[in-house]
Amino acid sequence: MHFLIPAAGSGSRMKAGKNKLLIDLEGESLIYWTLKSVFSASSTSWVGIIGQPKDKKLLLNSAKNFSHKVNWINGGDTRQESVFNGLNALPKDAEKVLIHDGARCLINPELIDQCAKKLDENDAVILATKVTDTIKIVDNQGFIKETPDRNNLWAAQTPQGFLVNRLKKAHKMAIDKNWKVTDDASLYEMLNWEVKIIEGNYSNIKITSPIDLKIAKLFVQNS
Ligand code: CTP
Ligand code: MG
Repeated sequence: MHFLIPAAGSGSRMKAGKNKLLIDLEGESLIYWTLKSVFSASSTSWVGIIGQPKDKKLLLNSAKNFSHKVNWINGGDTRQESVFNGLNALPKDAEKVLIHDGARCLINPELIDQCAKKLDENDAVILATKVTDTIKIVDNQGFIKETPDRNNLWAAQTPQGFLVNRLKKAHKMAIDKNWKVTDDASLYEMLNWEVKIIEGNYSNIKITSPIDLKIAKLFVQNS
């Protein structure tokens, strides 16, 4: 399975003054823990890290302890652009791809393998969890407009898996139509293409704010 890891963000909400994937978590960088899980999955073959050129040295340094080869791809200004760059850098024979955010460093390797396996039966899959909070749709003035039925609400995670040519086509259409999305499954929804949910677990958090780092620390200490 080909694997793309978007790692070209700036981590503005983390307020660490650098890419959050380079922050220390129990003696290693955040991206190290992500790579460790990705390399532990038996389905993983080819791996590409998508990063900003200024972070190249440090990001690749985190991959040095692993025997697995890592391919470097320059990222863009948005996650969407970064993923598009990644898709264009895949080897020509790549049929399927799993995209996994570098910021989800607590991913369980077995869930990665489950996503890879489900791609045999589905054109597109994503890991997600049932939402436990009651979610409100709120207007720009801060007033509640609606409460969607929680039974239909899932929180999207990564990995998200696709057929390479189909996802490339979706990204090209998004550029044409100026669609802006924060995950790849959104493009399929806009095109009315099916995406199958795979139930993941609540520990696969996206490290976004300082509180997430504290949670991740506990997980790494207890794993
Ligand atoms: N990402 C990327 N290229 C970008 C922006 C984001 O590859 N131009 C990656 C991030 O590195 C991260 C993932 O997409 O692994 C999810 O993005 P997010 O959690 O929003 O990370 P950042 O954009 O770095 O954080 P923030 O939005 O707080 O600045
Ligand atoms: Mg971001």
